[in-house]
Amino acid sequence: MHAVLPLQETALAALHAAMPAGMLLTEEADVERYSRDWTGDHHGRPVAVARPRSVEEVSLLMRCCHEHRIHVVPQGGLTGLVGAAVPSYPGGEVVVSLERMNKVRSVHAIDFAMVVEAGCILEEAKRQAEAVDCILPITFGAQGSCRLGGNVATNAGGFNVLRYGMTRDLVLGLEVVLTDGRIWNGLRTLRKDNRGYDLKQLFIGSEGTLGIITAVSLKLFPRPTQIETALVGLDSVEDAMALYALARRECSDLLSAFELILRGGIEIAINARADLEDPLSEVYPVYVLLEASAGGRVDLRALIEDFLAGAGQWVRDGVIASNRTQGERLWLLREMMVEAQGRGGRYLRTDVSVPISSIAAFVSDSLTALAAAHPAALVVTYGHVGDGNLHMNVVPPEGMAASEMDRLFHAAETIIFDAIDRHGGSISAEHGIGRVKQRAYLDRADPLTLELAGRIKDAFDPLHLLSAGRILPLRDV
Ligand code: FAD
Ligand code: LAC
Ligand code: ZN
Repeated sequence: MHAVLPLQETALAALHAAMPAGMLLTEEADVERYSRDWTGDHHGRPVAVARPRSVEEVSLLMRCCHEHRIHVVPQGGLTGLVGAAVPSYPGGEVVVSLERMNKVRSVHAIDFAMVVEAGCILEEAKRQAEAVDCILPITFGAQGSCRLGGNVATNAGGFNVLRYGMTRDLVLGLEVVLTDGRIWNGLRTLRKDNRGYDLKQLFIGSEGTLGIITAVSLKLFPRPTQIETALVGLDSVEDAMALYALARRECSDLLSAFELILRGGIEIAINARADLEDPLSEVYPVYVLLEASAGGRVDLRALIEDFLAGAGQWVRDGVIASNRTQGERLWLLREMMVEAQGRGGRYLRTDVSVPISSIAAFVSDSLTALAAAHPAALVVTYGHVGDGNLHMNVVPPEGMAASEMDRLFHAAETIIFDAIDRHGGSISAEHGIGRVKQRAYLDRADPLTLELAGRIKDAFDPLHLLSAGRILPLRDV
């Protein structure tokens, strides 16, 4: 936790004078909930919290912060997993929370597009898309809390990337307030626009380091009229990947999710909730939760049944949900697995990727090495394997001291990331770099990549006032 420096008392007074009444919070009790993220692992007291209601107010705020050299960090729903949204700059940071800019500005059923303010909660945007018989396909466990600006800033993925792409693939336009307060209006709903550099791409996945996203226009898709969800048990990750290859061919573009869960994940979920039971009559080392969806006249049920009947070589047992409620129960296992990992406190999260063809070898290499080095730790392995993206998380044994935990996490992460390097993968496929993955990122990035990244940062934020120390290291300017 950082003390407020004297210099900032003056700057803060200028900020108070310039901002509309009620926009700034500074009392300890008021700023507390902006000091800690969903993980509970990161904490930093904001110098102040600004809660603008409009793009003009964000602009005013940023102009003032720029003039007084005040550091700023944007915040959405605080569900990011790499420690980027809570204050961490040693001299103190003002949090800009977008929570009061939460409106859906428009939904266009004919354009299959919607325009939302950055503080809109993802689930609310999804609801409003459904009201016009469309879907906004960004889907994951935190959708009831995360906000669209955060989704864009982290280029969020989730369960449906396989079919619809990551957030980057869904963004048609952005409105962004630059660090000096100017408003960049790129908020179009055009499908095609090849005029010069596609600047919006730079803000997507920039983790709050290049500008404050204030509104987003997004692609929508026709709402499926049929959804089929199945959970199957298999003997190995190899078999799951063979099933995936078959699913791509047999279900063609209708496959919308293909989630791998190793047995440990199912166990941690069913142990966490009394009303959840083992989904199949026997226990299997590996499970796949898959979903297909369609509109029109396709007989989706028959398609899924035929596909699974033809996969007997790999599928040992399985269940196809007979209605939406049953389908949601299967997804609840997936959701509980994530929540349950944190019940005992801290754990190591990873969000790696390898080429899909290397998933089985990567899992086998890493799990063998982890079991040999850390037999008492629980490794929970699951992920969006249709995208080559896996979470291999390490839950420490109960009662482990904090310092021992740090050593365990460091050693386990080294094992996992070394395997990622050997298999030509990425140490951050979904959650971004923030602060948590910075060392691992810098150690692997080539000098030219870092030079170009540094120049982009300098071009957009020459004074390094925005989210300083995230992605790239802190630098004096
Ligand atoms: P925050 O946590 O508030 O911020 C995240 C980053 O974005 C920070 O760097 C912040 O400064 C920046 N930021 C926020 N708003 C703005 C803005 N308006 N302008 C500029 N920068 C901004 N991620 C996936 O990709 N796939 C998943 O399946 C997935 N599942 C998750 C499940 C759970 C249970 C949880 C807790 C998280 C999960 N995540 C997943 C992490 C994911 O990154 C976030 O949930 C989400 O995208 C972040 O949105 P947020 O509004 O909470 O952002
Ligand atoms: C998930 C998040 C943690 O896949 O990315 O559940
Ligand atoms: Zn994920």
